[in-house]
Amino acid sequence: MHLKNIRLKYFKNYDQTEVQFSPEINCFVGSNGSGKTNLLDAIHYLCLTKSAINGMDNLNVQHEKEFFTIFGDFELEGKEIEVRCIFESGKKKQLLQNGKAVEKMSEHVGLLPVVMIAPDDTQLIKDGSEERRRFFDAMLCQLSKSYMDSLVRYQHFLKQRNALIKQFAERGRWDQNYISIYDKEIINLSKEIAARRADFIKDYEPLLKEFYAEISENQEEIGITYETQCLLGNFEQEFQSMAQKDFILKRTNMGIHKDDFIFEIKGYPLKKFGSQGQQKSFVIALKLAQFQIFLQQKKTKPILLLDDVFDKLDDLRIQKLMQLVADHRFGQLFITDARPERSREILKEIAADCTFFLIEKGSLKGWNQ
Ligand SMILES: Nc1ncnc2c1ncn2[C@@H]1O[C@H](COP(=O)(O)OP(=O)(O)OP(=O)(O)O)[C@@H](O)[C@H]1O
Ligand SMILES: [Mg+2]
Repeated sequence: MHLKNIRLKYFKNYDQTEVQFSPEINCFVGSNGSGKTNLLDAIHYLCLTKSAINGMDNLNVQHEKEFFTIFGDFELEGKEIEVRCIFESGKKKQLLQNGKAVEKMSEHVGLLPVVMIAPDDTQLIKDGSEERRRFFDAMLCQLSKSYMDSLVRYQHFLKQRNALIKQFAERGRWDQNYISIYDKEIINLSKEIAARRADFIKDYEPLLKEFYAEISENQEEIGITYETQCLLGNFEQEFQSMAQKDFILKRTNMGIHKDDFIFEIKGYPLKKFGSQGQQKSFVIALKLAQFQIFLQQKKTKPILLLDDVFDKLDDLRIQKLMQLVADHRFGQLFITDARPERSREILKEIAADCTFFLIEKGSLKGWNQ
């Protein structure tokens, strides 16, 4: 699978731009703020219908403009797919595959798998559980439409239940009859989603260990523990017994939105005990394992977006990563770097077709091999 070209209009700092890509390595170079990451983000939009950076589509419309469009032609198993993503302020985002409107985003997410490695990814380790749930959910959604549908339903019922609890709190009275329909949905969906998360970790963890060993200097034992209350035998009773707490705190306190994934090194939490280097290696291993599991399950190499990795990683990790590139473990690759000489130096060692694009203030100033 690869992206052949992209056409942008009023997307962030791009006025109107068209670019043809190499099916192998594409390297975007240019000074800070020129628009390198924005171009990766446009590719992310085409694959996943949303930005990797700004959750709100509005923020990605060029200042003073009313809309943005991102068009791109993909090649997938010998077939051509043209994807169009159109967003107009105040309207629903539209997505079209070969001219046909896609009604549910779950019909598109997963068709064109993508993995992004970005400098602030260590938030995955350092931040709260929400970041990690988002990471694993995004991965599972790309792998399974039905997972995405269940998750969307869960989020819908959770929102409704929380709104109802707020009403109860205002009235000063809990009404079990009224809320029980939501309880049932949340309990059932929590059990289903938690079971799928647990199953997934069983497949994913060995790959994570493999990549961690490959890219880290030390071969410490690492692992992931999936923490959930939703698979306990008495989950249903526990959920019901939370009603009082829910009433006081005005929100739902049990369910898969409380789960966490604990990253461990030598049996201890990586967040507290991992060195900076160990944390960086772990993050790259998380992403490479994601790449590998997509490859295994979708039988196609995902597009890999590497944002600023040469700047943020040390020589050892760059070398390990580039070894994987040189071994042709990846498919189409997009790399950004503010320093063209450095990326040329690193990439010239690699026997692959590599195209450099020079970007200046949201416009492409040319490319060469
Ligand atoms: N909605 C928007 N409208 C216009 N310009 C925008 C919008 N959103 C972001 N920008 C501009 O995009 C530029 C940032 O682009 P980007 O993050 O792609 O830079 P970069 O080349 O990756 O830089 P760095 O090397 O620092 O990572 C900034 O100049 C910013 O002002
Ligand atoms: Mg950038």
